[in-house]
Amino acid sequence: MCGIVGYAGRRDAAGVLIDGLNKLEYRGYDSFGIATSDDGIHIVKKQGRISENGSSVSGLTGHIGIGHTRWATHGVPDDKNAHPHTCCTGDIAVVHNGIISNYAKLKRELIAGGHLFSSDTDSEVIAHLIEENLNGSLLEAVNDTVQILEGSYAFLAMSKDDPGIIAARMESPLVLGLGDGEIFASSDMTTILDYTQNIVFLEDGDIASVSSDKIIIFNSGNQVERAAEIVEWDAGAARMGGFAHFMEKEIYEQPEVFFNTLASVDDGEIIEEIKGSSGLRVIACGSSYHAGLIFRYMMEECSDIPVRVDLASEFRYFRPVSGELVIAVTQSGETADTIAALKQAQMHNCRTLAITNVLGSSVTRVADYTLYMRAGPEISVAATKSFIAQLAVFFQIVNHLCDGRYNYMDKMCHQVIEEVLLLDMEDAVSLCSGAGNLFFVGRSVFYPVSLEGALKMKEITYIHAEGYAAGELKHGPFSLLSKDTPVVAVCTPGNSRTAMLSNIREIKTRGAPVIGIGEVDDPDLEDIVDVLIPIPKSPVSGQILAVTVLMQVLAYRTAKVLGRDIDKPRNLAKSVTVE
Ligand code: AGP
Repeated sequence: MCGIVGYAGRRDAAGVLIDGLNKLEYRGYDSFGIATSDDGIHIVKKQGRISENGSSVSGLTGHIGIGHTRWATHGVPDDKNAHPHTCCTGDIAVVHNGIISNYAKLKRELIAGGHLFSSDTDSEVIAHLIEENLNGSLLEAVNDTVQILEGSYAFLAMSKDDPGIIAARMESPLVLGLGDGEIFASSDMTTILDYTQNIVFLEDGDIASVSSDKIIIFNSGNQVERAAEIVEWDAGAARMGGFAHFMEKEIYEQPEVFFNTLASVDDGEIIEEIKGSSGLRVIACGSSYHAGLIFRYMMEECSDIPVRVDLASEFRYFRPVSGELVIAVTQSGETADTIAALKQAQMHNCRTLAITNVLGSSVTRVADYTLYMRAGPEISVAATKSFIAQLAVFFQIVNHLCDGRYNYMDKMCHQVIEEVLLLDMEDAVSLCSGAGNLFFVGRSVFYPVSLEGALKMKEITYIHAEGYAAGELKHGPFSLLSKDTPVVAVCTPGNSRTAMLSNIREIKTRGAPVIGIGEVDDPDLEDIVDVLIPIPKSPVSGQILAVTVLMQVLAYRTAKVLGRDIDKPRNLAKSVTVE
């Protein structure tokens, strides 16, 4: 997702736009730009963050302007793909958030009609279509343009010859702020609340003509009224959408992220490459490594293609098998260990696939193929929605390889995750927050799920938490167990439940308190654990999502009790670009 802002009024537009883009940087930050109208359209745009380059755009004059901060979806993050985009003459400028799904066809038609494009983005077609349709007012040209667009958009357009801004909204958020002789537009009202609390929420299909002292809104060719609402939010808090931390906000975004990512994985060529490989070799770090381990268990259930999973930093000490497809999983696309391992695989003539969240990131320029997660920018250092998006990619790969085995998941994922988010975990949080050491244990696919749960707990609470295969605990770590070492044990219905019940009994005899995670209405489990966190009834695929999110929330709430710097834990970075 990207952030867009607009202004028409008595102030210098550039200052208002820069302020707004700084507040919207959480929506995307790989490039930015602004355009102002002052005896012509003036544009400055570049790769990089507005928060680090604001001075480069502060000199623009004019009291009308639009601005954009980008999260790349089409066209790598660079100067030419930064917004605003213009038409051929440069007299029309547009900033856009969303995805124009029919842009390729429109671009071909426009080029055939003589239009010259200067970027690789989908958004640029909007500026050229407006130019194509401009036979009078900008408003009419925009109205004709949106009839042709498919997909999602919130865009702002302005032209050299028009005294205002035109705002159009379909599926992507766009609000207007009504000030005293000035009007604001933004993807997110938090950028406006410092200037006015008088907010108009545009609806899908709305096209608004915005000038400094009035707005006129149309929908399906008819003028409509949208009553302004007084929003008394604290602007700072609102930036998080009312959440206390980005991590909490990103945990709550997961139902949508999983659904969107699942729907986006449909590259037949990559599926054929996987089918034709002698085996798969996943290389990754941290949470991405755990996602790879979960993928191995998924594949074991229904495919003969062997899957091996290696820590990227250790991969260099092994030789890949010729014919293996090496899959680099990296949310940031910049992890040095993972990129180094991928290059090594290529030196052994392996084909390579990257699974990443960042379009145009370094890993995409190394790998032969790329599959994108659709998680949007993840601000918090701890991986949550990006991890669930990696699972969605893997679920969809297995789905394609195993005859639609997971076809039902798009209908189930929202409910399962949303039910988990409503769970009361106070007793478990209390046990964890008072501990100095924790274990997370599980069997089968819940072993790597437990590894991930332990990582979440340790990285944001600073409590030593260790993930372990439940059957392995008695081979040494039992010596660590006491009443002061709570154990989080996953015991859900399936092929590992009976053995897990035995392991939990063994743990209990060593005096350790056990937090059991199992299906609702499991008396056998309820009888032997100290605290039970019940998950909704669902197939194993749903259990994986439920337990993963539950462990994220457990870590988050524990860290909150301990007063940790949750979004920026000590000693860590969001992307580890050194080996
Ligand atoms: C996970 O919460 C951590 N932030 C960390 O382990 C992370 O998963 C790891 O550094 C890999 O990052 P990547 O996916 O961007 O390569």
